[in-house]
Amino acid sequence: MTGATSNNFEQVEKIPLYVPGKPIQEVKREFGLDHIVKLASNENPWGPTSAVKERILKAVNGSEDEGPGFYPVSDGFYLRQAIAGYRGVNLNQVVLGNGSAEIIEMAAKACFISGGSAIIPRHSFAIGGIATQTAGGRVIETHATATEVDVDAILKAIQPDTRMVYIANANNPTGVQIELDGIVRLVKEIRGDILVVVDQAYAEYSSSGQFPDAVGFLGERENLLVLHTFSKIYALAALRIGYGLSNERVITLLERVRSPFNTNHIAQVAAEVAVKDLEFVSFCREKNQKARDAFFAEAKKHRCTASGNAGNFVLLETSIPAPDFFRDLLKKSVIIRPMHGYGLPHHLRVSLGRPEEMEAFWAAAAPMLDGGH
Ligand SMILES: Cc1ncc(COP(=O)(O)O)c(C=O)c1O
Repeated sequence: MTGATSNNFEQVEKIPLYVPGKPIQEVKREFGLDHIVKLASNENPWGPTSAVKERILKAVNGSEDEGPGFYPVSDGFYLRQAIAGYRGVNLNQVVLGNGSAEIIEMAAKACFISGGSAIIPRHSFAIGGIATQTAGGRVIETHATATEVDVDAILKAIQPDTRMVYIANANNPTGVQIELDGIVRLVKEIRGDILVVVDQAYAEYSSSGQFPDAVGFLGERENLLVLHTFSKIYALAALRIGYGLSNERVITLLERVRSPFNTNHIAQVAAEVAVKDLEFVSFCREKNQKARDAFFAEAKKHRCTASGNAGNFVLLETSIPAPDFFRDLLKKSVIIRPMHGYGLPHHLRVSLGRPEEMEAFWAAAAPMLDGGH
């Protein structure tokens, strides 16, 4: 062993660690519990549909042109074709990722190959910042609160070396949505050479017509990338697949930094079935809205503040430190997400599950909120 004193990994050690929702199996093991309610990762409790499951089984069983032994279609041609048709764009305006998180990483790789900065509002979904730093960029965090994103602060923060602006709309974990006038300003006022990434992971939970869809601005701004995922309303989180829509030039740049075969065949074919099922999407949207309304009503009864009007989750502010609340709920078989890591030390993020799961949450949380145990 040499007595090396310099640390080659100093930059890497500065990258915040992404802390995922605690897996069900882990909580069962740690606490010796049999049944767990997980409301920690904004998953969709209603799917996927049987048509999607059947397609997955067909792909697993294999045939002349598909099966687990074959490499997937590297660029996901058929799924891209289905998405292009559904979203009204050209095939060459669609890129696929191993989850939309991978497309954030691809964008960061393309933007920060020779350094530069990303503008990201405070309390934003963590991957934007992590991907920026991993790719060699620097994060400039702008003012935002648990209930509002400050668009002026984003515009004012832009530096000569800024290469990317990352916005999650709606944002996770706050559930804050930037409305159309804000999106218009970002698209039109940000310098043209900067890639504006608008992450719309939860868009399908808003009624169409009410959502300020950035895709409508692709004709006005070349450097605009809009992200969607199959992990949320389409209920395919386990398969890791998402898509990005942009202009052809940006897509060709992302294709250069994309890993070959980044999305697997089973995910591609499952998503191809899922994306066409508008009925399932509207079923889940309605269930989610009902769960949100019920949650807000219940939060009021326990005198705590619920916020976030978009997505399939809510943010709950209580007087109890978030890590303590989280541990207490774990012991009662309920997993939620404490938000101290996002600079919100008294906030919990609770995914909106089935009615019986929400009942289990309130049964476990109410005694703590009401002052008992
Ligand atoms: C805003 C936002 N973007 C992206 C993602 C990542 O989704 P995916 O599973 O497609 O990587 C999430 C996941 O929670 C999210 O909340």
